[in-house]
Amino acid sequence: MNELIKKLVEAYGPSGFEDGMRDLIRPEVEAYADEIRVDALGNLIAIKNGDGSGLKVMIAAHMDEIGVMVTHVTKEGFLRFTNIGGVLPHNLMGSRVQFANGTIGLIYSDRIEDRGKIHPLNKFYIDVGASSPDDCPVSVGDAAGFVRPFMAQGSRLTAKTMDDRIGCVVAIEAMKRLKSTPHQVYFAFTVQEEVGVRGAMTAANHLDPDVGIALDVTLTGDVPEARPMAISLGKGAAIKVKDSGMIAHAGLVRLMKQRADAASIPYQLEVLDGGSTDARSMQIANAGTAAGCISIPCRYVHSQSETVDAGDVESCIQLLVEILANPIEL
Ligand code: CO
Ligand code: ZN
Repeated sequence: MNELIKKLVEAYGPSGFEDGMRDLIRPEVEAYADEIRVDALGNLIAIKNGDGSGLKVMIAAHMDEIGVMVTHVTKEGFLRFTNIGGVLPHNLMGSRVQFANGTIGLIYSDRIEDRGKIHPLNKFYIDVGASSPDDCPVSVGDAAGFVRPFMAQGSRLTAKTMDDRIGCVVAIEAMKRLKSTPHQVYFAFTVQEEVGVRGAMTAANHLDPDVGIALDVTLTGDVPEARPMAISLGKGAAIKVKDSGMIAHAGLVRLMKQRADAASIPYQLEVLDGGSTDARSMQIANAGTAAGCISIPCRYVHSQSETVDAGDVESCIQLLVEILANPIEL
């Protein structure tokens, strides 16, 4: 599975520019889907037919990643940029980014006068080796994602885009393992989550599922001076109860806990004090969806060293399979 993880987490795909991600994921799911659709926004939807006795279930994992977009090229050939999603300035110095055409850029900032302070984003720039706008290989409107190789160290897996390529991996693996299901299952690999859960919104409005389950990372409380939170790496799948954008459907939370207990899958209950996921979009789509989220615990979210535990990833896959393989009573 690390091969698949490496392939997805190292790939380019800032929000709005997920075409390459879709091309990577499609062949992974084609053999396990009864039908595949791509909608106008670019969501990839792989459908697995049930036996007609179950519900319409939408699974959402987002393909996009945070990144940057060029706003201006200076006369010396440096790029000023804006953020795509939640880019944190203190993670930027010395970072490398890659544009769609392969150009690598180095990020640095204007002179630092007070080392105790962090510049705002508009004081950073990208150096692509150009000396003027004329010899600059990228231009205004071009988007870049971060560059950082995948690393596996023991059970710890680290990459620039565990958020949310690891959710995509959970969905793909669950599709592979799901032999049969009573449900009509829509595995949606969504776009533009990082800029406001947009892809899942249109997909959910169109598919109109009964149940929606997002697969995404969540924060942990197990690092120095973390915000207190009852989630640790290595303690199992996180069943979301609440985040700042959604209160999960209580019946769905109960069902997730029952399935995990019945199959002896380790899990933790997640109350996230900030952030949200595609589950929010699904919950408030159309006349409403019973929505929840299986979260993969992740340290250092939105840095280039997002870190998950392989055991937790496995627990998330198993839990999703248990839910989809059996009847859902809410
Ligand atoms: Co994110
Ligand atoms: Zn995410």
